[in-house]
Amino acid sequence: MHLHKFEKIWLIFGIGSLLVFLTVLGVSAFYLGNQPPSCLATIDPEKVDTTAPFNEPGLKKVEGKEWDYELVFVASAFNYTPGEVQIPKGAKVKVIATTKDVIHGFEVAGTNVNMMLEPGYISELVYTFNKTGEFLILCNEYCGVGHHMMTSKIEVVE
Ligand code: CUA
Repeated sequence: MHLHKFEKIWLIFGIGSLLVFLTVLGVSAFYLGNQPPSCLATIDPEKVDTTAPFNEPGLKKVEGKEWDYELVFVASAFNYTPGEVQIPKGAKVKVIATTKDVIHGFEVAGTNVNMMLEPGYISELVYTFNKTGEFLILCNEYCGVGHHMMTSKIEVVE
């Protein structure tokens, strides 16, 4: 079979790209352990206030985990608990959040923390706060008449 020179180049380029992509994907998934966020953690939305860790919202130092702190948030129409939280600069924080009523958003402006909070499910994300300053937490899922007032604040301090 005769292949034109350009066909050969494109075949090599195409197969080469495929191998590169599969390698990147394989290293990311199996070596670095990256995976899509799971929705396996569930909770009874009516018992949020009495279910750990949501019975004590706020920042907690943890030992022996991949992250230094756990930051627990409870969302409900139309506020977040806690309403404000201080985090030391450089802290690796696992944000754990859920909602007591309808779907809310959880976006920390200026970072790539952006989760949807669904009733019955627990949303989690690990983030390292490397910049000092104030970060607004916003609800970016329309949840009712008070949606635009639904905010909280993270203050990253030295
Ligand atoms: Cu909560 Cu919009």
